Amino acid sequence: MTIANGTISMNLAGKVAVVTGAGTGIGRATAIALGGSGVKVIIAEIDAATGVQTEQEIKSHGGQAVFVETDVTSSESVKAMIESTVRHFGKLDIAINNAAISPDAMKISEFDEERWAKTLQVNLTSVALCLKWELQQMIEQGSGGSIVNLASGATLRPQATMPAYTAAKYGVVGLTHVAALENGCHGIRVNALAPSATMTDMLARRFDLDASQDDLVSRFGLLGRFARPEEVAHAAVWLASASSSFVTGINMPIDAGFALM
Ligand SMILES: NC(=O)c1ccc[n+]([C@@H]2O[C@H](COP(=O)([O-])OP(=O)(O)OC[C@H]3O[C@@H](n4cnc5c(N)ncnc54)[C@H](O)[C@@H]3O)[C@@H](O)[C@H]2O)c1
Repeated sequence: MTIANGTISMNLAGKVAVVTGAGTGIGRATAIALGGSGVKVIIAEIDAATGVQTEQEIKSHGGQAVFVETDVTSSESVKAMIESTVRHFGKLDIAINNAAISPDAMKISEFDEERWAKTLQVNLTSVALCLKWELQQMIEQGSGGSIVNLASGATLRPQATMPAYTAAKYGVVGLTHVAALENGCHGIRVNALAPSATMTDMLARRFDLDASQDDLVSRFGLLGRFARPEEVAHAAVWLASASSSFVTGINMPIDAGFALM
């Protein structure tokens, strides 16, 4: 970070980032915010249609982006995506591990074992796989890096009836701590974000937003509304940038006080 004439610069121009699940929601908003800050962005998304849309959106504003079809549950796919990042842009500085599937909606006493396995695979094992290949690349480069894992407000104030999602997100926080402990010596920072309810497709799938939005928003924070994806994206960009150069190993709430309620 540099501070010149009272202006804070995040020094992101020329950096290279991967954003998983960047076709929609928080991942898309983060990829666009990074692209607009001069970062070269790899859109690592399983859905080609939305992945290409994010790539086009960044390019239409003069940014640099490449969509790389990626399944974050596959080690080969994640490894190939990191290799592709280096082929396209020469290095890897920033990783936003964001891809996930929606929360389950059942009690632990009745939980669906297939859904459990799928949720742990997509929402937790994927983060371990991404960390593995991202860290190997960053350590080999020897120039540090910043990794942001999307956890959830559910790790700060758990909700009933989403056991698999909650367990996976607690796991993401645990992985964040281990990765931060192991890699500070390489100048690599690893942090998590804990957003509360954010207006994305994932949230729409979980709630019938038309039904009782007033009641819902009052349960999810002190500001009387859900977060916008851009509000979570801006926190991710800050953690990715040199502006947060002394921050590692945290699980940062972006929750309008949800954890206090
Ligand atoms: N929306 C919320 O209220 C909220 C709250 C807390 C945490 N989060 C977390 O934030 C992150 C983003 O959530 P969102 O609301 O933007 O979700 P979203 O459903 O809008 O986007 C998720 C993206 O991940 C992609 N994806 C799914 N499986 C994948 C796979 N195997 N490989 C690659 N990509 C895959 C999807 O295609 C989609 O583009 C998630 O980790 C989520 O758990 C969201």
